[in-house]
Amino acid sequence: MKKNMNNKLKILCIVGARPNFMKIAPMMRVFNQPESGISAELLHTGQHYDAAMKASFFDQLGIPEPDVDLGVGSSSHAVQTAEIMRKFEPALDARQPDLVLVVGDVNSTIACALVAVKKGIPVVHVEAGLRSYDRDMPEEINRVLTDQISELLLITEKSAQANLVREGIDPKRIHFVGNVMIDTLFANKKRAVPPKEVLVELSNPEMFLEAESGYGLVTLHRPSNVDDPKVLARLLETLAEISQRMPLIFPVHPRTRGQIDAANLAGLLVSDRIALLPPLGYLELLGLMSSAQLVLTDSGGIQEETTALGVPCITLRENTERPITVEEGTNTIVGADPDCIKACFEQLLTTGGKRGRVPELWDGKAAERVADVLLQWESIRGSGAMSTKSS
Ligand code: UD1
Repeated sequence: MKKNMNNKLKILCIVGARPNFMKIAPMMRVFNQPESGISAELLHTGQHYDAAMKASFFDQLGIPEPDVDLGVGSSSHAVQTAEIMRKFEPALDARQPDLVLVVGDVNSTIACALVAVKKGIPVVHVEAGLRSYDRDMPEEINRVLTDQISELLLITEKSAQANLVREGIDPKRIHFVGNVMIDTLFANKKRAVPPKEVLVELSNPEMFLEAESGYGLVTLHRPSNVDDPKVLARLLETLAEISQRMPLIFPVHPRTRGQIDAANLAGLLVSDRIALLPPLGYLELLGLMSSAQLVLTDSGGIQEETTALGVPCITLRENTERPITVEEGTNTIVGADPDCIKACFEQLLTTGGKRGRVPELWDGKAAERVADVLLQWESIRGSGAMSTKSS
C-alpha cells in the first residue's frame, strides 16, 4: 500500500535488549523502503549495551544506527524501567510520532509503551498475546501490561488471539502477521558463520565438529535458572553429565557468567567436552544452531528458531509462552529437574527427536504484513470510518 511521500505514517520503533534486535531488523528495512508509506525512526534504550550484546547485531543484521540512544544500562527492574521511562519522555516529545512500536517482552517494551500511551500516542505491540501463565517471570508481567495498553496487537501464533480475547482485548485490534524474528532467520540462513569458524579459537574444535554424536548447543539466562546458586549448580552438573554422551557448546550470557563467578561454580564445567564461549553474534549463533544435533535452552526466541530450523530443542523451563513450538515444532518442555532433563536427552538420542513443521505464516514475510496492518489502521483512522479504540 502506497501513501503520499510527504505524508508518511511516522513510527518510532523501540529496541532495548538482544532479542529485540532480530525482530526490529526486517521491519526497519520494510518500513524505510522508498516506496513505503511509513517513515520509521529507531530508539535504543541501552538496556543491552556490550558490543557482544548489541553492536554485533546491528552490524550483522544491517540495522541502522539508532536515531536516539537513551544509554540506560543495567540495574534492578524498578530502576531500569524507571530510567527508561524518564529518559524516553523527552525523546518522544521531541519526535511526536503517529505510533510507537514495541516488540517482545523486555523491560524496555513496557517502559516505552507506558510512556507513549499516557501521552496519547498509540502503541503497536509486535509479538503480542504470548502467555506462559507464570507471573514469576518478569517477561510475563511485561507482556500482560503491554498488551493491555496497546492499540494494535500483532501476533505470531493463533494461540495468542485466544489469550488476548480472554483478557478482554477487542478482536478488531488483533492481527495475525506471523513471526518477524523468523524473517530474520530465513534472510540470514545462508550467511550463518560455519561452526568451524566459530570454534576456531578452541584448542580442540574437532571434539565438537567431528563427534559421532554431533554436538549440543546450550544457552541459559533465565533468572529462575541462574539466579539461585543451588538451581544453577544442579543445572550445570546435569550439563556436565550430558556432555559425557554428547559434547556441548555453551555461549555464556553475561547474567549467567556473573552468577557462575559469584557462586564459584566454574569448576563444574571444566571439561574438554564443554566449550564455554562468550556471548555470540547472530550469525555465529545461527551457524552453531543450524548444525547442532540438539539445543538445550531456556530462551524464548531459540525455541522458535529451532522449530523454524527443524532442530530438536529441549527447553529447561516449566512452561512456554510459545506453545506452537511444542504442538507443531521440535520443542519439548522439561523444566529444570536433572532427572527429567537427562531422561528427555536419552530419549532424544534414541529417537532423533521431533521432526516438526514450520508454523503458519513463519514464512519470511511477516514484516511486510506488519507494514500493511499499520497503513490500513492509519487509513481507517484517517477516514474516521471506524475507531479500533475501546472507550
Ligand atoms: C533481558 C530480558 C530477557 C531477555 C534477555 C536476553 C528483561 C526483564 N529481561 O534479560 O527477557 O531474554 O534480556 O538477553 O528485560 N549485562 C551485561 N551487558 C549487557 C547487558 C547486560 O553485562 O549488555 C549483564 C549485567 O550484569 C546485567 C545482566 O546482564 O545486570 C542482566 O541484564 P538485564 O538487561 O537486566 O537482563 P537479561 O538477563 O539480559
